Amino acid sequence: MDIAFNNGWLFTEDYDAGFDKASSVRLPHTAREIPYNYIDCRDYQMVCGYRKSFTAPLEWQDKRLILRFDGAAHEATVFCNGTRVGYHACGYTAFSVDITDSVNFGGENVIDVRLDTRESLNIPPFGFVIDYLCYGGLYREVTLEVKDPEYIKEVLIENTGLHELRVRIESECESVATDIVDGSGKVIASACGKAFELSVPNAQLWSLDSPALHTARVRAMRGGEVVDEKSLRFGFRTVRFENDGFYLNGQRIKLRGLNRHQSYAYVGYAMPKSVQELDAEILKNELGVNAVRTSHYPQSQHFISRCDELGLLVFTEIPGWQHIGDEDWKRQTVKNTDEMVRQYMHHPSIMLWGVRINESQDCDELYRKTNAVAHTLDSGRQTSGVRYLEKSHLLEDVYAYNDFSHTGDNAGLKAKKNVTSKKHRPYFVSECNGHMFPTKPFDDERHRLSHALRHAKVLDAMYAADDICGIFPWCMFDYNTHQDFGSGDGICYHGVMDMFRNPKLAAAVYTSQSDNIPCCVVSSSMDIGEHPAGDIGKVYVFTNADSVKLYKDGIFVREFFPGKDEYPALPHPPVIIDDFIGELLITQEGFDEKTADTVKECLLAVAKSGPSALPPKILAKFARLMLTKGFKFSDGVELYGKYVGNWGGEATKWRFDAIRDGEVIKSVTRSPGQKVHLEVRPSKTELSEGDTYDAAEVRIRALDEYGNLAPYWQEPVVLKCSGALELIGPEIISLKGGSGGCYVKTIGKAGKAALSVNDIEIEFNIDM
Ligand code: GAL
Repeated sequence: MDIAFNNGWLFTEDYDAGFDKASSVRLPHTAREIPYNYIDCRDYQMVCGYRKSFTAPLEWQDKRLILRFDGAAHEATVFCNGTRVGYHACGYTAFSVDITDSVNFGGENVIDVRLDTRESLNIPPFGFVIDYLCYGGLYREVTLEVKDPEYIKEVLIENTGLHELRVRIESECESVATDIVDGSGKVIASACGKAFELSVPNAQLWSLDSPALHTARVRAMRGGEVVDEKSLRFGFRTVRFENDGFYLNGQRIKLRGLNRHQSYAYVGYAMPKSVQELDAEILKNELGVNAVRTSHYPQSQHFISRCDELGLLVFTEIPGWQHIGDEDWKRQTVKNTDEMVRQYMHHPSIMLWGVRINESQDCDELYRKTNAVAHTLDSGRQTSGVRYLEKSHLLEDVYAYNDFSHTGDNAGLKAKKNVTSKKHRPYFVSECNGHMFPTKPFDDERHRLSHALRHAKVLDAMYAADDICGIFPWCMFDYNTHQDFGSGDGICYHGVMDMFRNPKLAAAVYTSQSDNIPCCVVSSSMDIGEHPAGDIGKVYVFTNADSVKLYKDGIFVREFFPGKDEYPALPHPPVIIDDFIGELLITQEGFDEKTADTVKECLLAVAKSGPSALPPKILAKFARLMLTKGFKFSDGVELYGKYVGNWGGEATKWRFDAIRDGEVIKSVTRSPGQKVHLEVRPSKTELSEGDTYDAAEVRIRALDEYGNLAPYWQEPVVLKCSGALELIGPEIISLKGGSGGCYVKTIGKAGKAALSVNDIEIEFNIDM
């Protein structure tokens, strides 16, 4: 029997002072909520305490009582009725404590957790600077397992071939049986014993498009009676990095991923299941990527399970950032590797183990051990480790490198041969961009475009190189960080999304590479006043359409096609628009083709150089127009205003129709916005009080009357919850770059609830 142990905890910020002034909390819980930015990371560092009381009925006397903590950041000591029963020192892996011998059966019991959240602990990732906040708290769920003494302690499932498994079960029970159950609930194979190999040739394979999942239902039996049962979900598939690419089930796939931290505004790591799952959904269904790296630690089981369900490949790694500590610290690293592999091994989405501290120096003695741990436990996956070092020792199977060489106008990536001499070993890029070009949602248009183009460039370079298996650009969304990093306000604006997962322009670079999500995102607002000298320059349409037809005030200008010349290897290069006059001088002014071309050339030259600095070639052309066509200076001024400046009279309306197979799949209209309204998008409105509280992420954006983001609308937004719902974070926020958000959470009651966002009301339903 599993009992969710998430409600009814007392929390004190000072363990030694006791629980007299403690507050009531539910898990997942963060030791201290923090502001959106300008953060003091000392706020969440403390030796805090959690306390929970429970009654253990007499019938449990013959059982074992196991407390499982899914995440306690960062060093936990567990007491049961005052007796120390367990200790764990990694904030990113789960642990279990057998409390049976200290339990008072038939009476009240008290569990205390002394939780040290200080970043001075001698365990990974601590010891040096870190470019992300590490928060603190019992930030994942806790479960009380009431078990038969011969319970199933652990089930390890190893994929040894496409349809082959090796299963190892730890239990004191003599008789153990396993059924393999498919997605429809049918038993497709069975085996007995605590260690066996199994071939299930008919099993459906797990793939990106069809992520078929199976369950291993393990039963421990005594005298024909089931005394314990444990189910673990897994998939049949093979994953393999080769010199020429990554293979899933023998099929080559270019990995187009992103890095993800597990953090959220205000509450850091502490979010329940549905919000954890949401990031996987956003990666797959909004950003259209096929992979994710859980930088820089094992992340929520809920997140990874959702990757299993959605068909999203995961590269997961041990906790750490650049620093390697002393012998104790190293021992902990080896232990973390062991815990990571055991706890996450069943997930078909995980394709690779990162067994090196992110961006650390070579340390062969340590990494020999971490590699051995992963290889011994799991023969079905290779190992890797993320480096910024070139030509570093390769003790792993796959060389992973953070390639920050792209600066905007050079090659997107380094050649593999310049990074590693191991030319026969697989290679991929584990990070790029990030700090090379921080981009805020409220940066100007040119900056936001440059950010997007840098992402397009590195992606293109990855697709062009057969010996680069994939890429994980930095990163999915902006995150809070320590003072040594970020923009001085405690935020690294490195994301292709903001902290609330609102897309920046660069997000569209990813979405547009997917064939499954119709995409047409125009890089420019088309407002000349946003650009130096009013020169909009090239406009990029990030789309997976075949072409884009441009219309000006409803009149066709020209059709444009994907920019294969600039981005030859991208599956869907952006469509580059550099001619806003197109055929208009022919269709609207009645010029013949040749005259229209000359007039256009002259007008564009004026836009570029100004009327007083025109090159002689253009002056000569203009003179010829005057002589042969009776052209006057005032005609030039009028045509300029009409076709280049686009000023006067009604505001110009530009329409971009994305065409695929002759059909308009998306259409974007750009014109100066005059009326802003809020778009409020809750991740869901049906919430459920289950094992703990539920929460929803609410994305808020300011849009104009054409549905375009109003990036300079920075106004206050007032948030208010009513009914069985509570707000996470402040009641008044300002949008930043026209976007922002909030979270709402349930409060243990069923019923109707609402969130008002200025004058918009969103209704929620909560069930128990
Ligand atoms: C890398 C590091 C990441 C992040 C990134 C920013 O060096 O691994 O955690 O700091 O730089 O670009």
